[in-house]
Amino acid sequence: MSGLFAGTAPYYARYRPGYPDAVLGRLRAAFNLDGSGRLLDLGCGTGELARPLHADFRDVVGIDLSLEMVTEARRQSARAGITNVRWLCQPAEAISAELGSFRLVTLGNAFHWMRQDEVLGKAYDLLQGGGVAILGHPGGIWSGEDAWERAVREVLVRWLGPRRLTRTGPFTAEEGAERRSLSRSRFTGVTAGEHHWSRPVDVETIVGELFSTSFASRALLGERADAFETDVRRSLLALDPSGQFVQHLHTDYLFAYKR
Ligand SMILES: C[S@@+](CC[C@H](N)C(=O)[O-])C[C@H]1O[C@@H](n2cnc3c(N)ncnc32)[C@H](O)[C@@H]1O
Repeated sequence: MSGLFAGTAPYYARYRPGYPDAVLGRLRAAFNLDGSGRLLDLGCGTGELARPLHADFRDVVGIDLSLEMVTEARRQSARAGITNVRWLCQPAEAISAELGSFRLVTLGNAFHWMRQDEVLGKAYDLLQGGGVAILGHPGGIWSGEDAWERAVREVLVRWLGPRRLTRTGPFTAEEGAERRSLSRSRFTGVTAGEHHWSRPVDVETIVGELFSTSFASRALLGERADAFETDVRRSLLALDPSGQFVQHLHTDYLFAYKR
């Protein structure tokens, strides 16, 4: 599992869409965030949630299985002058009371990789009130329906085959699994929401986002990575020589509480 995102961290920090202010605003309102308490961000990646939320808490702990992700998160937060986040390399399943107690636990685009019931149970025990927020961007380039996404998918299928595979096996994100796991847990008041938004993307960003994924990373493509990149660029420019596209995104979230 630790090799899943090998080599992706710099691409991740630079090219992933992150979370829109509208969703972060709903999160702040749902949990009455006011700059006090502590955040535990599990599967933090390069800090896509922990960095924009750092000022909403007294301090933050970001945890990720991948040392490369944690190292990049540290680099990005140092560059932004963020001083209240501690980045730790460990599995989410290993969290314990040693970390102290928290007001909120977040899981951004990461819960599907984890042993969900176990992580929710341990997260619950570390919370003093507050709750858990599970966020994700279902779909993505692999299943998008815009013309440029279909063009990229053709290239992906040409180079990597019709199945979305990672270095550790098939990409599996079972639909509704997060919600089912929450309903088995001790959390209450489960609230679901979604937000549709878009961002302009150029060829550079599209290639960078592909290299940030577990299913089209440079490590997965190996020595074919440069030729794959050339093919993606050629297909996109054949579609629109300006190389400018719009990415339609959809962020969904589940909030649940410890009362
Ligand atoms: C797609 S990234 C999400 C990063 C970031 N949270 C975001 O919202 O974009 C998934 C992250 O989960 C991490 N991860 C996967 N399984 C994990 C586990 N069991 N414990 C901790 N981190 C894990 C991966 O290393 C990766 O950095």
